[in-house]
Amino acid sequence: MTDSPTEADVRKGLAGVVADTTAISKVDPETNSLLYRGYPVQDLAATQPFEAVAHLLWHGELPTAPELAALEQQERSLRPMDERTRRALDDVPVSAHPMDAVRTAVSQLGGLDGTLGGENGVLDPELNRGRAVYLFAQLPGIVAHTQRRRRGLEPVAPRDDLDYARNFLWQTFGEVPDDAVVDAFRVSLVLYAEHSFNASTFTARVIASTLSDVYSAVTGAIGALKGPLHGGANEAVMHAFTEIGTADRAAAWLDEALAARRKVMGFGHRVYKHGDSRVPSMKAALDALVAHYDRQDLGDLYDALESAFVERKGIYPNLDYPAGPAYHLMGFDTDTFTPLFVAARVTGWTAHVAEQQAANSLIRPLSAYVGPARREVPGA
Ligand code: COA
Repeated sequence: MTDSPTEADVRKGLAGVVADTTAISKVDPETNSLLYRGYPVQDLAATQPFEAVAHLLWHGELPTAPELAALEQQERSLRPMDERTRRALDDVPVSAHPMDAVRTAVSQLGGLDGTLGGENGVLDPELNRGRAVYLFAQLPGIVAHTQRRRRGLEPVAPRDDLDYARNFLWQTFGEVPDDAVVDAFRVSLVLYAEHSFNASTFTARVIASTLSDVYSAVTGAIGALKGPLHGGANEAVMHAFTEIGTADRAAAWLDEALAARRKVMGFGHRVYKHGDSRVPSMKAALDALVAHYDRQDLGDLYDALESAFVERKGIYPNLDYPAGPAYHLMGFDTDTFTPLFVAARVTGWTAHVAEQQAANSLIRPLSAYVGPARREVPGA
C-alpha cells in the first residue's frame, strides 16, 4: 500500500482483514465449527457448567475440580450489588432500552473500582483476572434488576447456594425453574460466550489497545453489541415472530420483507456462509423448551420461517434465531435478550482484553480520504 491510501485499498467493514492472532477461539467456516481453546463449542454446551467455560476462556484450560470450586466460591461471593450501582441503574428511565441501563451499570462499576490508579493499576494481570470474575458475578444481578424494575418489581437478592445459571434465573424471576429450563439457559450462555473478532470483541480490543481499563473496554463492547446487526438481532427475531403471528403466515411475511429489501434478523453471518455451528445445540435447547411449555405453535413458526428463508435465499439461521424464542419461552422480556448476551459474552470480552494487554499494539487503521482537496480558508 502507498503512503496515501486510495479507495482501492479499502476493505469495507474490514471484511477479510486478519487483524491479529488469538488463542481464545477459532471460527472455521469451512468445517462449520467453533472451538473455544480447542474444544468444540457444542461439546462444551453438552457437558460443562458455564463457570467451567468461563475458566476455560480466561485460563486456557478447563478447571480441575478444586479450581472450579474456587471460581464458584469467588463468583458467589461477588454477586451482591453495591447500593451505588443500584442507584445508577434506578436513575436510568424505565423507558430507556435495558442495554442502556446495563452499559451505565458497568461503567459505574469502573468508577467504583478504587484499584485502577497507580502505575500498573489498569494492566496488572492478577487485578484484571479479579475484575473479570467481578463483572461476571455482577451482570446477572444487573440484568435481572433491569427487567424487574421495568415490570414494577422489587429486586431479588442473590443466593449463594445456587450455581450461576440457577441464580441468574432466581434473581430474574424470584424462583428457580425446572432443570429443563435451567439447562436450556446454560446452553445459551455457553454458546454466546465467545466468537473471535466479532464487532463487540474487536471494540473491546481497540479500547484495551489504548491502555484503557477493562471496564471501559466492556462498556464500549456493550455499545457495539446493542446494534441490530450484532447482538440486537435476538430481540429483532422475537419482534418478527410477533409480527408474523402463526406459521401459515411466515412465507407471505418473508416475501413482503424481501421485496421491501428488509434484512431479516437472525439469518446470515459475516463468517459462516453454510450455517452457524452453534445453531443445532441452541435449536435442541429450544425444542426442549417448546415441549416443556407445550408451545408447538412457536416451534412451527420457527420451522416455517427458516425453510422459507433457506428456500428463497439459501441463507441459514445464526445463533440469535433459536435464542430469541428460547429466551421468550423462559419468560424474559424481549428487550432483555441482548443484556443476556452481554452477561454471557463478558467472559469472552475479558479474555480478549487480557490477551490484547499481554501483547499490545495500538489498533489504529488508515483511511482513504475522499473529501475536498486542499483549499484556502476565506480570509486566511
Ligand atoms: N436478510 C435478508 N438478506 C440478507 C440477510 C438477511 N438476514 N443476510 C444477508 N442477506 C443478503 C444481503 O442482502 C446481500 O444480498 P445482496 O448481495 O443482494 O445485496 C447478501 O445476502 C450478502 O449479505 P451481506 O449483508 O453483504 O453479508 P455480510 O456478511 O456483510 O452480513 C450480517 C452479515 C450478519 C450483517 C447479515 O447477514 C445480516 O444483516 N443479518 C441479519 C442480522 C443478524 O442476524 N445479525 C446477527 C449476526 S450473528
